[in-house]
Amino acid sequence: MTTDPRGMSTVPAPLPGNIAACAPAADAFLPAPLVGVLAEHDHRSLARPNIFEIDLGVVARNTARVRTLVGPRTFFFATVKANAYGYGIVPGARTVLAAGADALSLANLDDAALLRDAGVGGPILLYAGAMLDRAAVRAMEALDVIPSLWSEEAVDAYLAHATRRRRIALKIEVGPERLGIAAERTVELVRRLREHPHADVYLLHCHPTVVADPTHAALDWQYRRFESVLRSLEREGITVPLAAMASSRVMAMTGRAMILSAVDPGASVFAADADGRTPFHALRTRLLQARAITRTEYVEDSPIPLRPGLRVGVIPIGYSDGMARLHAGAVLIRGRRVPLLSPPSLEYTRIDLTDVPDAALGDEVVIIGRQGAVAISAEDVRQAQGASRVQDLALEVRASVVRHYRAA
Ligand SMILES: Cc1ncc(COP(=O)(O)O)c(C=O)c1O
Repeated sequence: MTTDPRGMSTVPAPLPGNIAACAPAADAFLPAPLVGVLAEHDHRSLARPNIFEIDLGVVARNTARVRTLVGPRTFFFATVKANAYGYGIVPGARTVLAAGADALSLANLDDAALLRDAGVGGPILLYAGAMLDRAAVRAMEALDVIPSLWSEEAVDAYLAHATRRRRIALKIEVGPERLGIAAERTVELVRRLREHPHADVYLLHCHPTVVADPTHAALDWQYRRFESVLRSLEREGITVPLAAMASSRVMAMTGRAMILSAVDPGASVFAADADGRTPFHALRTRLLQARAITRTEYVEDSPIPLRPGLRVGVIPIGYSDGMARLHAGAVLIRGRRVPLLSPPSLEYTRIDLTDVPDAALGDEVVIIGRQGAVAISAEDVRQAQGASRVQDLALEVRASVVRHYRAA
């Protein structure tokens, strides 16, 4: 350690405990010996033993199924927004492109940068909502993304900074009452953009609201609004290469009926496959401690209900890791299902080991997944949590949990 003239240390003392907590941008702060440790090991191998296992085979099969449904000539954007629904944007993107998607779509320009840095090529549709200042528009050009513009003001803001002719998309409002250019104003806007040297209108797209109505009358109305824009353009001899409306629910409800020249599904690519398998393969950890509770004092102030013979186990995963939204009220250990004893705390969770007296330090604990003959499925957790969709579960797994990928 060095000292400055005032006698203060300029290099912090070695950190106690878990040095992985300060990786990966730690080099500037860590004393040299620890930098060496981080350089020699993948720093994730120093993390707590919490593993999120992802089955990319399910994503690949779902992608292939969409390709089969839409046929070889429909242009297929696969959505990898929200960090590929929590599964990891780079592996997610590589998987869908290898399994039949033509292009990617996403919501954050920085995600596009991440993909390009990882060497992922091909078209990327950037959903409506990005900043349209000079720096952002230059980045869109440099990253070769197709920005989706959602209003006449957004179009003007983009073109004020665009430096060359590039493909753009227009988001059309047909029913969700969210972002979009009113269907009825679209033709005039496209007409105007034909004159602009930097705008090449490549895609018109919309994302309709789908309500559970077997007649899908409201969906039909939204489709007609979108289709009438396309017809008007056609009548005027204006060609826009791609039009996309079919999202996952639209395709699930109507099959091929609303598939135009392009599709852009998200949820169905990252949902359960035809056999009920989800990309969320497992969430597991290891037992830190198992202990008989012998306390006889302040029993009523105990953080957990006490009873004779109670054995408590502790696992190193808590609500800072997402655990509060990721459990079904029980975990699996030594092939047995045991209940949680209390809601997760920030980084630990207590489990009831009374009925598993042989449980020992280091035992595998499954929060979601299979262990021997028993299993807790992602669907079990969805139900226990009152969550609406299984495919939102992975979004709850924080970055502190190490991702392991099963190859597609
Ligand atoms: C513009 C757009 N296209 C496509 C999708 C993917 O939709 P889904 O997950 O319903 O397939 C979304 C999702 O919100 C979207 O906003």
